[in-house]
Amino acid sequence: MMLSAILAGLSLTTTLAWAHTSSLLQRQSTGTISHSMNVTNCPGYTLGSLAENEYGLTAQLSLAGTPCNAFGTDIMDLTIEVTYQSQTTLHVKIYDTANQQFTIPELVIERPPTPTESFTGSSDLVFNYDPSPFAFWITRRSDPEAMPIFDTRITSLPSTPIPPFNTSDPRTAFDGFPLVFEDQYLQVASALPYGTNIYGLGEVIASSGFRRDIGTDGGVGTIQTLWARDVGDPIDQNMYGSHPIYLEHRFNETTNTSSSSGVLLLSSAGSDIVLQTPDNSKVSLIEYRMIGGILDFYFFSGPTDMEVIAQYGATIGYPMWQPAWGFGFHLCRWGYVNISEDIANVAAMRAANIPLEVQWNDIDLYHAFRGFTTDPVRFPGEELQQFIEQLTTNHQHYIPIVDAGIGATLNATDVYYPFSDGVTMDTFIKNPDGSLYLGQVWPGYSAFPDWFAENTQAWWTEALTNWTELGVNFSGIWLDMNEASSFCSYSCGTGANFSALKPFSVIGAVATGYPECYNETLWGPSGNMTINGTSTNSCPSETMETLKKRGIGAGGEPSVNLTSPPYAIHNGYGAVSTNTLATNATHYGGYVELDVHNMFGMMEEMTTHLALQTIFQGKRPFLISRSTFPSSGKWTGHWLGDNYSKWQYMYLSIQGVLQFQIYQIPMVGADTCGFNDNTDEELCNRWMQLAAFTPFYRNHNTYGALPQEPYRWDSVANASRIAIAARYSMLPYWYTLFANASTNGLPPVRALFYEFPIEPELFNVDRQWLIGSDILVTPVLTPGATTVDGIFPGRGTVVWRDWWTHAVVDANPDGNTTLSAPISHINVHIRDSSILLLHQEPAYTIYETREGPYSLLVSLNKAGTALGNAYVDDGESYPPGTNRILNFSASNGELDIESTGEYPIPQKVETVTILGVQQPTGVTLNGDTIEGWTYDGANEELIISNLSIELNAAESKLCWE
Ligand SMILES: *[C@@H]1O[C@H](CO)[C@@H](O)[C@H](O)[C@H]1NC(C)=O
Ligand SMILES: *[C@@H]1O[C@H](CO)[C@@H](O)[C@H](O)[C@H]1NC(C)=O
Ligand SMILES: *[C@@H]1O[C@H](CO)[C@@H](O)[C@H](O)[C@H]1NC(C)=O
Ligand SMILES: *[C@@H]1O[C@H](CO)[C@@H](O)[C@H](O)[C@H]1NC(C)=O
Repeated sequence: MMLSAILAGLSLTTTLAWAHTSSLLQRQSTGTISHSMNVTNCPGYTLGSLAENEYGLTAQLSLAGTPCNAFGTDIMDLTIEVTYQSQTTLHVKIYDTANQQFTIPELVIERPPTPTESFTGSSDLVFNYDPSPFAFWITRRSDPEAMPIFDTRITSLPSTPIPPFNTSDPRTAFDGFPLVFEDQYLQVASALPYGTNIYGLGEVIASSGFRRDIGTDGGVGTIQTLWARDVGDPIDQNMYGSHPIYLEHRFNETTNTSSSSGVLLLSSAGSDIVLQTPDNSKVSLIEYRMIGGILDFYFFSGPTDMEVIAQYGATIGYPMWQPAWGFGFHLCRWGYVNISEDIANVAAMRAANIPLEVQWNDIDLYHAFRGFTTDPVRFPGEELQQFIEQLTTNHQHYIPIVDAGIGATLNATDVYYPFSDGVTMDTFIKNPDGSLYLGQVWPGYSAFPDWFAENTQAWWTEALTNWTELGVNFSGIWLDMNEASSFCSYSCGTGANFSALKPFSVIGAVATGYPECYNETLWGPSGNMTINGTSTNSCPSETMETLKKRGIGAGGEPSVNLTSPPYAIHNGYGAVSTNTLATNATHYGGYVELDVHNMFGMMEEMTTHLALQTIFQGKRPFLISRSTFPSSGKWTGHWLGDNYSKWQYMYLSIQGVLQFQIYQIPMVGADTCGFNDNTDEELCNRWMQLAAFTPFYRNHNTYGALPQEPYRWDSVANASRIAIAARYSMLPYWYTLFANASTNGLPPVRALFYEFPIEPELFNVDRQWLIGSDILVTPVLTPGATTVDGIFPGRGTVVWRDWWTHAVVDANPDGNTTLSAPISHINVHIRDSSILLLHQEPAYTIYETREGPYSLLVSLNKAGTALGNAYVDDGESYPPGTNRILNFSASNGELDIESTGEYPIPQKVETVTILGVQQPTGVTLNGDTIEGWTYDGANEELIISNLSIELNAAESKLCWE
């Protein structure tokens, strides 16, 4: 009785709130239109009423024949707007003239302003079109005869049908690439050079590697579905984030040149993006199939990969400024079940002398799995507060999890403000009838924040503020379950019997999986490991081939529901509402979940980021989140989700880190040592070292798995201390790279070919990566290895030196070089021509490390020159305060340091190491003779120590001769 009274009360409030927005709801009810399910007869469009303006042109497009109504209703009248946004960026927007289709609001993603000058006659890119049938193509002004960057005249190309996803349901099996613009289906395709190099279009773990598979003759290489989905890191399927941006690296063998471009389709619609190479066509193509929205394209001219990524950043917003402490080592697990475990963990890290910057808690922290609470018995507020105060005193930090679903209260005496305030402040998503939409997550029946609603920011900020007052004095926030995840489908909680559903119980769950090649003799029995007579941790013959790619046309997964919407995107769960919110759930402003689903995470990130700016006035927020979308990087970093403690997943994490650099969310990393299943000593040893050279560095483990903190095994502790020390000494370099990301959109982590664009052997390298332009990482990715093969870019023109020994690598110019890689050793190399500012004394925390002196590492090329720079500020202010830019250059036996800016750097450079010099006879600093130097002829290494170089001086000069 009490329950129904509460629900009746809810409907009343929410119906009132709904009344003024109901008109937009009408496009939900499609009735029983019969669809042809075939685009072959779709008529395309004819262009008319073209009007040029200072910045581009506008024109009308009208349907060129009888509607085909393939998967919806053809829209008769479209408008095309072409805007030459800048020298390098061209915007082509095709929308329904009546403006009924969903368009991402400017408040959600700010778009570039109208240009202030005309680029129509000068921009790198040129828009070309045929009026009838309407088609457009984008060329480079500098090379109009070359194959266009984007070309929708593909209808005239020979083509083969894309195989059906499900042989018993032909609805996705159709031929031809006409422009289709329907209310529930949009299609556009573009030709690509045969076999070109495509990157991006995620979030995905691609079996093809970082470089996407565009198919060989007659084949579909990739069907990339964009539909945010809570799923434990599957291969070749849609997952947490949606990023409709690709980078094309186009290499011309004849001229031995490369030029890169990028294409963004700024849409939140559920989509299939297909890469294929039709039979006998000698052309590859990209086809977009979307279940809503408009065609909102941005084209980026590059011509380098780095420039394409930066131009994308300029369009959707550069990544947020990271606080320096965020680069420290983070430790988490699901299963730190009480405050004593947190305390013991922090102490054990200290005792093992393994730097710990941030202690995290998963949902164990919560009372009854409810967000913004602490369990009164296991995490009493006062003890938690003391614990966090102690961390703060030691310059360490604390980060708790925030789940997106807000548990519904069970009865009238149940007090839970985040829910009850959400109801009264009207901040939750609704059912189509205006009643509260309820799904089901860890706390049981749960409501979901409506990020569009007017009071949501105030409510969310207050919930976070209240939490700090309960003792949860966090330094940053971890956003999870924000696809949004729901454990039942459709409006499962609405009207349900609440007493029948309690919060989930996970106590007693035990992880039984182990890494490939797990050695029971060495590490002890691994529990239940036999399935159908085969050990689940047996050593595969080819470790990297064990996970098979989803078959094309496997139409998918058995549960695919092809009834609604009419075109079934290839969602790994089948029906679009599975394991997430019902797609007919409604948002403030009349938006339906179907249209805005892919933006839930990004809007939560924006709201949380702004809340943290309110809570920590003047300080940079720190966030890590699971579901992302274009512009998420403005608000958050990302972890690569619920991976597995497998060698395979350690390798796959590299392409994830590289992808998110393209997506402008550079603060990214994987759950180190693996999340699902048990890890083992060898895998954790290698992974703690690998992840130390990726931006976000967190060891995180699942409930019921063997503990995997780095102090659990001596070898892992040792490997971690080594790798973390290297990471912390490189902090000024990382920090400079991230300042470049936040001010210019340049990616801190780079695929090798970004720096060496005409070496095709690098185009699919995803077992190695570059930090900036100067540090090459070559990790071990297989069990039992004592060596690793790596490629050294530059084909013999670059001198690569070992980070640890400074020895020159005897690199094979034509292929892989085999490197020694015993356990606890990771291969890291320094490029020549580089100068790195380093922390000389990596310490226990980032704060203590930053307090210490600097050193400089100069790696000269064969001509004896090198360059470098560094950005230095206080590491925490937002907006960033004063800074200092240091420019380093070396040539002819002289190192110059030029310093500009207002930020005073108290620390001095105490050591300068110069690699690649002949035996000197003397060293001077600003003309004064320096005595304290040593020279090692074998490494051609000059070490000048006991210096005190003032970095605030406008210029310093160090000479050797
Ligand atoms: C699509 O329609 C065309 C023309 O009516 C027909 O030839 C073709 O077989 C159809 N394709 C499918 C997959 O139904
Ligand atoms: C490569 O460059 C040559 C010479 O400019 C040109 O003829 C050819 O079409 C180019 N190839 C491709 C695939 O663009
Ligand atoms: C109301 O819900 C709370 C919280 O779950 C529970 O502890 C309490 O027993 C419930 N009261 C009644 C009367 O059911
Ligand atoms: C915050 O705490 C105050 C005081 O307990 C309470 O009145 C308010 O409802 C809380 N707000 C939220 C959003 O939890």
